[in-house]
Amino acid sequence: MIEFQHVSKAYANDVYALRDVSLSIGDGELVFLAGPSGAGKSTLLRMIAGLEKPSSGTVMMNGQNISKLKAGSLPYLRRKLGLILQGQGLLLDRSVLANVMLPMIVVGESVSEAETRARAALDRLNMLDKANASPLALSGGEQQRVAIARAIVNRPQIILADEPSAYLDRDNTIIVINALKAFQRSGVTCIISSHDEQFLDQANRVIYLSKGEVKDSWTSSVSSTNSADIAA
Ligand SMILES: Nc1ncnc2c1ncn2[C@@H]1O[C@H](COP(=O)(O)OP(=O)(O)OP(=O)(O)O)[C@@H](O)[C@H]1O
Ligand SMILES: [Mg+2]
Repeated sequence: MIEFQHVSKAYANDVYALRDVSLSIGDGELVFLAGPSGAGKSTLLRMIAGLEKPSSGTVMMNGQNISKLKAGSLPYLRRKLGLILQGQGLLLDRSVLANVMLPMIVVGESVSEAETRARAALDRLNMLDKANASPLALSGGEQQRVAIARAIVNRPQIILADEPSAYLDRDNTIIVINALKAFQRSGVTCIISSHDEQFLDQANRVIYLSKGEVKDSWTSSVSSTNSADIAA
């Protein structure tokens, strides 16, 4: 469970990225963050990841105040998260496969288990044939799909995805939506910001932000079996 209690984020020039945001997101929800550029979507996601602290208010995860966590506890929080954030690049000095294996190697998984799971994740994103390629040899959309494989490979409890369909064409957007929905069905909480209406159609819930405030939050009538599955 993720809870925002009267959370504001103000920057020096009196710009409010978030203003008195209160909301809670239950385990296993698929939540879509909507709203125009500058509305505060990335700020909200970065706060859940502990990358940004509120100016006031509290952000709780499973009953723990994230902004009160000691620096040493943040890695434990991060292990529960699969992060697909804007501008988080791949390591260019190693292969696609090595990039996707990395989160598992970091937490002490064996190399053979890491490779098996990394290949499965790449296969899921239709990128297995590029496993040995350098990220430099990939298109923007292909790099994005590798970044998604890297985010889901550790079987996170929560996936935070900031504009995951940026650079993707329709077919690859459907691959991404289906991968995220499959995770949600297995109990993973997915919070996705996107301008892409295809995501909006798939969400259990939509939170609409404008100028740092929650303008609307609604639960969609779309059931969990739906058009993206059919289209795939
Ligand atoms: N480091 C910063 N210093 C000052 N203002 C900032 C900073 N980071 C973000 N902002 C401002 O906070 C507001 C919210 O930014 P945020 O990146 O969360 O928006 P967004 O909804 O993700 O937009 P987009 O759809 O363009 O990605 C914007 O007005 C932005 O200019
Ligand atoms: Mg953003």
